[in-house]
Amino acid sequence: MTGTRYWLPTQSAPATSSASAPSSGAFDVEAVRRDFPQLHREVNGHPLIWLDNGATTFKPRQVTEAVGEHYARDASNVHRGAHTLAKQATQVYEEGREEAAKLLGTRDTGEVVFVRGTTEAVNLVAQSWGRANLGVGDEILVSAAEHHSNLVPWQLIAKERRARVVPIPLLPDGQLDQDAYRDLLNNKTKLVALTHASNVLGTVPPVAQMTALAHRWGARVLVDGAQAVSHFPVDVTELDADFYAFSGHKVFAPTGIGVLFGKREILEAMPPWQGGGNMIDSVSFEKTSYAPLPHRLEAGTGHIAGVAGLRAALRYLGTLNRKTATEYEEQLTAYATSALSTVPGLRLLGTAPGKIGVLTFLLADAEPTHLAGLLDQQGIAVRAGHHCAQPALAAYGVTSAVRASLAMYNTVEDVDTLVAALHEAVDA
Ligand code: ALA
Repeated sequence: MTGTRYWLPTQSAPATSSASAPSSGAFDVEAVRRDFPQLHREVNGHPLIWLDNGATTFKPRQVTEAVGEHYARDASNVHRGAHTLAKQATQVYEEGREEAAKLLGTRDTGEVVFVRGTTEAVNLVAQSWGRANLGVGDEILVSAAEHHSNLVPWQLIAKERRARVVPIPLLPDGQLDQDAYRDLLNNKTKLVALTHASNVLGTVPPVAQMTALAHRWGARVLVDGAQAVSHFPVDVTELDADFYAFSGHKVFAPTGIGVLFGKREILEAMPPWQGGGNMIDSVSFEKTSYAPLPHRLEAGTGHIAGVAGLRAALRYLGTLNRKTATEYEEQLTAYATSALSTVPGLRLLGTAPGKIGVLTFLLADAEPTHLAGLLDQQGIAVRAGHHCAQPALAAYGVTSAVRASLAMYNTVEDVDTLVAALHEAVDA
């Protein structure tokens, strides 16, 4: 690491941008970066610039150590057996659940169901709650900004139940059209599926307000928090969300572990989705009864090492000042937006006020995958393609775009390197 990799408060903003560079203030981005070993590797002979945080975030060493220790020393199954390692593993597992409950703002760990990730969480709700509660002609409102994981599961269950999936349209800047939303709600609306932060446009919809409206019509609301939880504090109680889902790997934790929050009374009324071990109370050929929440929705052995990593990631986040981290990211996002605007021919998709640091763009007639390949040759990792949100891109009349997505450990230098590379691509 060299000092030049970081923005320092004494430096002036680079010439590429008219926005002022973020003041790191109380948020010590250099200290945070030191905790993430992968940020310090090279790719294609260049220092890696990781701008694909929307796809996955890197893990701090506290997380990799927790996972390593689990497999090297502490591995055991949980909730079974009277031996010491099983008890220890169970304690770590349940502490991981407590950390997730704290992150989301619920005190009831029975409302925190471990799943593989956001996709599995939505499928669980669609297959269990949806099958039990949707009928012919019912409507599921799904925002046009959704990731496919908060759309396709609803299409599948809607087809089976002969219900309808109805899109909530976007405004040109990527906000959800609130007038259209109000008009779409009616007494057939049974569920509203909303992102808390769009993975392709960065939009942060007014979820609390939209949830309150949905509740007036007796509809449930499921919020996809996959892109939200690493960027700003979340409180499901304030949002009054009925369901809220996130993936560990997008919040500095391992892949394969995620969380579904559901209000207790709703989860309790839901039939089990998958059957098997761990989710039962007693089993006979005549009658089977189920375990209390959350275990009745967690059939089979969970991702125990993943939870050890999630516990470590959320504890790590707990050591940071989330407010200053969020402010830092907001400033970096404003800086990046302004810096990108200096690139001739660059068209940014999604400019909603208050958006997270997801910067999806087209550059003149450059093919997005080709452009991402050129950036990769310089060690700059971005995503290109449809971003698993084809309807959101279709709203802009495109099928593919480049996406640079920021995390709290990105710097002004990362942005400047990207922008300089884009200027070079234009000039080439
Ligand atoms: N959902 C992840 C993304 O948006 C994979 O890139």
